[in-house]
Amino acid sequence: SRALRPIATVAFQNGAKNFSTSPEMQFKVMVAGAAGGIGQPLSLLLKMDPLVSTLALYDLAPFTPGVAADLSHMDTPSKVLGYRGPDELPSAIADAHVVVIPAGVPRKPGMTRDDLFNVNASIVRDLTQCIAVHAPKAMICIITNPVNSMVPIASEVMKKNGVYDPNRIFGVTTLDIVRSRTFIGQINGVDPKTVKIPVIGGHSGVTIIPVLSQCKPAPQIQEQAKIDALTKRIQEAGTEVVKAKAGAGSATLSMGWSGAMFTHSVLRGLKGEENVVECAYVKSDVTEAKYFANPICFGKNGIAKNLGYGQLNAYEQKLLQIAMPELKKNIEKGEKFVK
Ligand code: NAD
Ligand code: LMR
Repeated sequence: SRALRPIATVAFQNGAKNFSTSPEMQFKVMVAGAAGGIGQPLSLLLKMDPLVSTLALYDLAPFTPGVAADLSHMDTPSKVLGYRGPDELPSAIADAHVVVIPAGVPRKPGMTRDDLFNVNASIVRDLTQCIAVHAPKAMICIITNPVNSMVPIASEVMKKNGVYDPNRIFGVTTLDIVRSRTFIGQINGVDPKTVKIPVIGGHSGVTIIPVLSQCKPAPQIQEQAKIDALTKRIQEAGTEVVKAKAGAGSATLSMGWSGAMFTHSVLRGLKGEENVVECAYVKSDVTEAKYFANPICFGKNGIAKNLGYGQLNAYEQKLLQIAMPELKKNIEKGEKFVK
């Protein structure tokens, strides 16, 4: 039997409430952009995930086979395979249950996520085109920025190929929840993993809406000015890291962690576990924006239920109003790129 090693328990203590060690339901996960700043720690954590049986690492970087060789020496049961360059992409994708995409350029100080659109849009379009042909049923988890536009791009490509399933395409916003938990855990002096908070909207600046009124336990701050400061810190936390890295990129380690947790939840849904819930940016009719992030319940076919965002207070309703035009603009830009 596959005994759970302590290191795996530590890695997934945030994400897995009913952690299964059952060997029969295991999955192939493909990482596109696996040799990058996010790709490497993400792949490391996925190598530790007992639900992953095959890890296919794909990147353009010449040293991608080396990253795969390196990870393959870890003494966990999953198989690691490396693929380099577009000729090897179909083999990397074939039969994947989940494709996680952190391929693309990151921000430098002074840039917005939307400034990455021109480079990253074609990367996500071309990767999705290959998924449409070689693994049309795969769950597609998009980390590449700007997430608000990349999910519409992937969706349009799948539509063009006649294989679109809105329940299988996710923008990964988990880092916003991870940060919210951490900051609120610090304020309240509690373990961050005990903090439950939805972050809704999208994944850039004003479109990131932490719903502090629904947070459990409630953040121990009363003054509106402090609530406003915490909200802004969560919205600008990516920029905080970009500035601190001073030109060397954006969040990679906390994103690797967040991406692995998100993937683990998708896999738990695939294996038939019930009540697995994470926030994600998905096709939506919850608001007038065609795509929107809020809590999603996962199942065997991706989204089992969109749980909506519940009650917002007046301050959060105002945040939503401010977010909406930006979100719609980002979505239209993505759709227009493919059409
Ligand atoms: P990075 O430059 O360190 O790594 C990107 C990797 O993608 C590189 O190894 C590169 O070779 C590879 N790549 C480029 N084009 C490719 C292609 N066509 N196919 C396969 N691989 C390709 O960047 P990073 O720090 O890992 O960030 C990656 C992306 O993730 C950026 O767009 C960044 O903005 C985004 N990001 C998103 C979140 C989020 O919360 N969703 C968080 C952090 C970063
Ligand atoms: C983040 O939130 O850290 C990422 O979206 C990367 C960035 O550009 O801020």
